[in-house]
Amino acid sequence: MTDVPLKAVPLLYERYAFLDEAVPYLPLGTRPTPVAPLPGLADGPADVWIKDESGYGDIAGGNKVRKLEWIIPDALARRSPAILTFGALGTNHGLATARYARAHGLGCALALVDQPIDDHVRLQLERLEASGAVVHRTRTVARTYAAAPWLMMRHGAFREGRFRPAYLLPTGGSSPVGVLGYVEAGLEIATQVSAGLLPEPSYVVLPVGSGGTAAGLALGLRFAGLRTRVLGIVVNDQLTLDAKTIVGLANKTARLLRKRTGNFTIAGLQPEDVTLRRDWLGPGYGHPTPAAEQLVRTSAAADGPVLEPVYTAKALAALKDLNTRRELGNGTVLYLHTYGPR
Ligand SMILES: Cc1ncc(COP(=O)(O)O)c(C=O)c1O
Repeated sequence: MTDVPLKAVPLLYERYAFLDEAVPYLPLGTRPTPVAPLPGLADGPADVWIKDESGYGDIAGGNKVRKLEWIIPDALARRSPAILTFGALGTNHGLATARYARAHGLGCALALVDQPIDDHVRLQLERLEASGAVVHRTRTVARTYAAAPWLMMRHGAFREGRFRPAYLLPTGGSSPVGVLGYVEAGLEIATQVSAGLLPEPSYVVLPVGSGGTAAGLALGLRFAGLRTRVLGIVVNDQLTLDAKTIVGLANKTARLLRKRTGNFTIAGLQPEDVTLRRDWLGPGYGHPTPAAEQLVRTSAAADGPVLEPVYTAKALAALKDLNTRRELGNGTVLYLHTYGPR
């Protein structure tokens, strides 16, 4: 497979003069991530391709790293002593944030809600401990909200003569700044389409845990002029994740670009511009489903992408069912593979 050569600077900087001064960026992975056909796992009338984010980043992988490329330099520019972020006990986002924060001289505190504990979660908790992050088990979303102001102060510090609270990073890194990572990925998909490496997809299918990846892609694809629709498979029932909230987040990111560049002219997205399906969630966030567990095994046996049961296997199980039911048409469907264990 040949890659499109990309310059070291992000595609967003190429589009916007002066953005590099207003929104700092720190490369943490190798762009572009590869695209390739994905036969055998979700066959049907639509031709299924994969964009594989698993190799992006060295000390953590998957979709979190692109968000951190904008978040870490933003926290550094604000002279924050630490990042405070949120998730469930098995949080991939928390682990990636903790590792990259530490590598760049920032502290990290995590407020974590409960999720069913299995071997994967136990292992993840050990990794979190080793990452140097301070873990607060806040158990429920309501208690997490209540504790957040106190935790911001608790993990703040005096810097350059001023008390600076911890940098508040929403669950999943899905702040308007973090979302820029997937605006960039949307532009990257467009360069791969125009280089003839990937047919223009009718849909990008991906798991939705906090919504930032889907929001960024929707904005980036619109921005690049592709007709590709974002089809998000909701795997989290602990947050409000509907088309209105995803598009609201995308539009906040558009406002950030408008404010910092002065010339962002893309029309706002509407809720009809993204599709969300929740039929593959099963009993709830973190609860495995038989279809997802089966797909983890099938993919491993076929030497396919490494799936996990919480996000990626549910998304691919959805793609498989929808393709079998002919609900995706007969064009190209791109599965965004967001898991990257290290
Ligand atoms: C492997 C994996 N895929 C997908 C997601 C969801 O991405 P987002 O939180 O941007 O919706 C996450 C984290 O939440 C994740 O860890």
